[in-house]
Amino acid sequence: MPASQPRRDPAQVVIFGASGDLTLHKLMPALASLAGKDRPSGGFAVIGVSRTPKTDEDYRREVGERMPAELKEAYARLAPRVYYAQADVESATDVARLAAYLDDLPGGRVAGRLYYLSLKPDLFASATAMLKAAGLLDQTEGCEPFRRVVVEKPFGCDLESAQVLNHALHSSLREDQLFRIDHYLGKETVQNLLGFRFHNAIFEPIWNRHHVEHIQITVAEQLGMESGRAGYYDTTGAARDMLQNHMLQVLALVTMEPPTSLEAQALRSQKVNLLRSLHVPGPQLALRNSLRARYTAGQIGGQSGGKPVPAYVDERGVRAGSTTETFVAIRAEIDSWRWAGVPIFLRHGKRMKEKFTEVRVQFRVPPLQLFNRPDGLTDDEFREKLREGSLCQVRPNVLTLGIQPRETIGLSFGVKTPGAAMIMAPAELAFDYRDHFGQTGAPAYERLLLDALQGDATLFVHAEEIEASWRFVDAYRSAWDSPEAPPLAEYPAGSMGPEGAADLFRGCEGGWSKGQV
Ligand code: BG6
Repeated sequence: MPASQPRRDPAQVVIFGASGDLTLHKLMPALASLAGKDRPSGGFAVIGVSRTPKTDEDYRREVGERMPAELKEAYARLAPRVYYAQADVESATDVARLAAYLDDLPGGRVAGRLYYLSLKPDLFASATAMLKAAGLLDQTEGCEPFRRVVVEKPFGCDLESAQVLNHALHSSLREDQLFRIDHYLGKETVQNLLGFRFHNAIFEPIWNRHHVEHIQITVAEQLGMESGRAGYYDTTGAARDMLQNHMLQVLALVTMEPPTSLEAQALRSQKVNLLRSLHVPGPQLALRNSLRARYTAGQIGGQSGGKPVPAYVDERGVRAGSTTETFVAIRAEIDSWRWAGVPIFLRHGKRMKEKFTEVRVQFRVPPLQLFNRPDGLTDDEFREKLREGSLCQVRPNVLTLGIQPRETIGLSFGVKTPGAAMIMAPAELAFDYRDHFGQTGAPAYERLLLDALQGDATLFVHAEEIEASWRFVDAYRSAWDSPEAPPLAEYPAGSMGPEGAADLFRGCEGGWSKGQV
């Protein structure tokens, strides 16, 4: 390194929950990939922490065995800097010993530290307090070496618990040291929502109630309760697991006002404003505008020849008498000048027909229908038939932003069919990330870990966003718990959810994308 260049101290990524699924499946591959690309410059060491006794060699092997084949080479570069520390994060003695251990690692005293709490959520507050008590979080604002904490979701289970958790964390950390992760924000196509909206001047003038008829956001999954997941899921449900976080983050990016820059504060304050302007309904409106359901037995991956899967209630780990929803659909509204009166449809389910996440922005139809007029009708007869709805109406333009698994952008429009008559047919402009770029960028965790190491909080969730999101979700949850709530609906695994979800579209053009059942 040239003498003029300042020496960059290596960082330490300290993962609590060293052998958990998230660590082995997502975090370690992401870190190996970063190491393979020499990012961030200066490098980093990884210290897995958990209670089981293990040597560094044992741990390196355990991680290596789970590493995807394409990352084995990159992992070979990281492995010598992977360490294991046995410690119980609830024991002050263990955490004090861990502090000394981290200092004694090569470069440990001057290293910045990213503590990743890949732990059960009820340990977030106590673990952070332990780190604080052991002096592991001491950092003067803006000074190096940094001390940052990454917390996973779920962040609380309602507004009150989220506020308590925010308060507890803030008693050990400043907000700028806290990185609440939502892996959807690390997805390339989710970030593109911002790029698409604010870099392409043609969309912004029509991105409002004057031109948009409705917006729908779907996160459909084929997964059910694999690998003993029901233990967590049965106390969580679809609304808390996906709606409060990932889906509302996507909604915020699609509908927020333009930020003045891409600085974390500018972006997050626009998201906070949007989330705070979500209409929080009273119980009656919440029931009228939502539907929750759970799956019954069915087939995943094709009508015939698909894989038979059990009903939710028969999954291992689901409590007897469970009323947990695996599907949720909501018709929301945003109380803002831009969006007042535009329905926002949110839908998420497990064990659905196919896996896809997409945002659909449906535009208003032209005020006058000039085309597709059958021969022989007078002007008045044509008008009458249009009013009755007995003629094929103009199809609305729809902009579809495919988040996953295909990363696409599509714009539907009408085009004149060849021939003497003015008959319009639907057509589409389509863009596919993979076809265009040949690749789709780094996986979400890789991007987010790099940002956290570099101190960029833009793609992390602020305390106020979390609280505003819970306020919205809690309104529905408490309505569903009330005696007036209808019983949980059902849908067969492998379908597109319960039929009743279509009723939320009352008064709107069209319905859910990719059909209903
Ligand atoms: C997690 C949820 O946050 O996101 C899971 O807890 C869900 O239930 C997962 O399956 C979906 O993530 P992705 O990236 O596959 O859409």
